[in-house]
Amino acid sequence: MLPTQEQALVWARQRLEAGESPTLDCEIILTHILDCSRASLFAWPEKPLSEAHWQAFQQAIERREQGEPVAYIIGEQGFWNLTLKTNPSTLIPRPETELLVELVQSMQWPPATRLLDLGTGTGAIALALAGEHPDWQVVGVDYNADAVHLAVHNAQLNRITNATFEQGFWAQNVQTGWHCVVSNPPYIDPYDRHLQQGDVRFEPLSALVSEDAGLADIKIITKQAWQLLYKGGWLLLEHGFDQGQVVRDILLASGFKQVQTELDYGQRERVTLGQKP
Ligand SMILES: C[S@@+](CC[C@H](N)C(=O)[O-])C[C@H]1O[C@@H](n2cnc3c(N)ncnc32)[C@H](O)[C@@H]1O
Repeated sequence: MLPTQEQALVWARQRLEAGESPTLDCEIILTHILDCSRASLFAWPEKPLSEAHWQAFQQAIERREQGEPVAYIIGEQGFWNLTLKTNPSTLIPRPETELLVELVQSMQWPPATRLLDLGTGTGAIALALAGEHPDWQVVGVDYNADAVHLAVHNAQLNRITNATFEQGFWAQNVQTGWHCVVSNPPYIDPYDRHLQQGDVRFEPLSALVSEDAGLADIKIITKQAWQLLYKGGWLLLEHGFDQGQVVRDILLASGFKQVQTELDYGQRERVTLGQKP
């Protein structure tokens, strides 16, 4: 016999009991499979699932039980005011990264600002800012071709026309002349034990890990940004909670001024910014 929506959720919650958020995970997965709102799960708890939906739900819950992130199972993730498609070619956009978007939003920019997002992944930062500023010209770069395709797809899905995406090794092939360079680069030390835990086990190391204790890519991007930015332009970099001081030192050594680090919602140092004088 096929279970009702409520019975399916009870079954799934038990399977995911050992996880961090079993109730939320199984509700998100079921609403995705049924293509309905969470409210409708509770409005019609006695509604039976079809055979196809029950099969799909069981398979999805098994994947979650193995630790696979919900965003890869359902293929999407909310970021800022957008819904972005996700896949294992790149990082699942994180809530912490919205801090970087908020900081750019809180600053003064000229009309038709040119913003470059290095290591754009799903296009999260680039698309959030392009969506907020239809007059801006936004370019996202990633060296992973699948991530570039994903970002282009996400721009189309969200009807954002002022962001374009290119494949490249950081800014190697990018022309100079930007008001703002942003990046959430790989910044985890290759030996960090957290790489063996939780969602990151399913994400590509190329999106997570950087040599030189996690700082190699931040150093490259900082040097390149100095060359690319207009005078008065800003660089904003996301980094690990324990990298604030060293990232400030890297920016200062490159000549950036007004260097400061902002805290994320968990009160940890998360984004460092500096201005090219
Ligand atoms: C931490 S993820 C950030 C993705 C996205 N910006 C976000 O905030 O969700 C880092 C991204 O940098 C890309 N990346 C890594 N090395 C790169 C390189 N040398 N040049 C360009 N992109 C690179 C990865 O493919 C990945 O998509």
